Amino acid sequence: MFELNEPLAKLDVSDVSRFADQSILSLFAFLRSHEPVHFCESSPHGAYWSISRFSDIVSIEADPKRFSSRSGFTLADIDSDFKHRSILSSDGQDHLRQRRAIAPLMTVDGINALEVTVKKAAVEILDSVPLDKPFDWVERVSIALTGRMLATMMGAPHSDFQKLIHWSHIASIIPGPNADLGSFEEKDRLLEDCYRYFLARRDISVASPLSLNFVSLLAHMKREMEVDEYLSTIIILIVGGNETTRNSISASVVFFDQFPEQRDLFYNHPELMESGISEIIRYQTPLIYMRRTATEDVEIGEKTIKKGDKVVMWYLSGNRDEDAISQPDEFIINRMRAGRHLSFGFGPHRCIGRRLAEMQIRVLWEEIIRRKWIIQPTGNTERTVSNFINGFNKLEVIIRN
Ligand code: HEM
Repeated sequence: MFELNEPLAKLDVSDVSRFADQSILSLFAFLRSHEPVHFCESSPHGAYWSISRFSDIVSIEADPKRFSSRSGFTLADIDSDFKHRSILSSDGQDHLRQRRAIAPLMTVDGINALEVTVKKAAVEILDSVPLDKPFDWVERVSIALTGRMLATMMGAPHSDFQKLIHWSHIASIIPGPNADLGSFEEKDRLLEDCYRYFLARRDISVASPLSLNFVSLLAHMKREMEVDEYLSTIIILIVGGNETTRNSISASVVFFDQFPEQRDLFYNHPELMESGISEIIRYQTPLIYMRRTATEDVEIGEKTIKKGDKVVMWYLSGNRDEDAISQPDEFIINRMRAGRHLSFGFGPHRCIGRRLAEMQIRVLWEEIIRRKWIIQPTGNTERTVSNFINGFNKLEVIIRN
């Protein structure tokens, strides 16, 4: 039974140490039943509300007029003089314009075209890993596959994928007093090469016919994007298309080892591929939260959220809410309505890359199942220490076949 050892008002849910050892899951269960709309008076990023129930998260996501994305989608504020307005930190027409521009790569035809590349990459990567000998799955498989895919989506040469991975790592850090980076300015400095690289690629794309990659699609928008807007959306695409899918791939190996009867079902019933992949993504919840800012006073769960307050929607908690999902702490690949989870968010900002992510995970697992491999973690595992990215830095495994 979970016991809270501090006054509720002093509780900072975002404290990273709770995420490193996963004790956050018990705290979320406590909050859902005792304080589903919780106010933290003070944290390294100031005061904020924590929303832990599935239904409250959905209502907030569906109400972008009263819960805006413009001041930032993480706990860290975007400075008022900071001009970056990415797809994720914009509302209304600004948001729609960017979303429409990148949509062609997310259509059925766009995804089918990318599937050929993913399939080829998956075969080559799996051919290259050792059998019966330990190796790091994160580096050799999860990063290798999503990195190659990222280069393709960006229209960059495959040989540049290590650079993209490096920038993605820096871009995924949320600046703040207790973080590896102190400020957005410092982060910008570390990303200067990345900015130069993508501005050069945009110049090349403008001078070439439109092709199906993100840089070309953004370069050929009807109304040219401001440089800041272009670069900040590139950053979202790098992180969105990489860290999240990578961590789902690593997590799937861990879950199938923890739940071998689910692995047997998955291997023997191809018709469960779709629901199984949704369940992997729900159970892992690769992005732990998104934030909004109230544009007026709003009542939720008998609490009044004041205009200007930060509101954190904890997807990791909503995905374990017993009122919305039955047996939420179990990993069950043949769930009814398995796609009804919050890992991709909800409402106007719902992840536009979700089909692409699911396709990559599916293609990889189809190839693993074809080889009849059983992948066993050795226990030499390192989790990512973050309250935003739920993942693995290292996952040593042995493949038995
Ligand atoms: C398992 C993998 C993935 C997860 C868990 C994930 C999760 C999310 C979440 C939670 C959001 C915010 C939703 C909201 O605020 O309601 C989001 C937005 C977004 N994601 Fe993903 N994502 C994944 C894969 C991808 C991929 C492969 C791409 C492709 C590049 C991508 C591109 C984006 C973009 C561009 C947005 C912003 C959409 C908008 O603001 O309208 N994501 N994603």
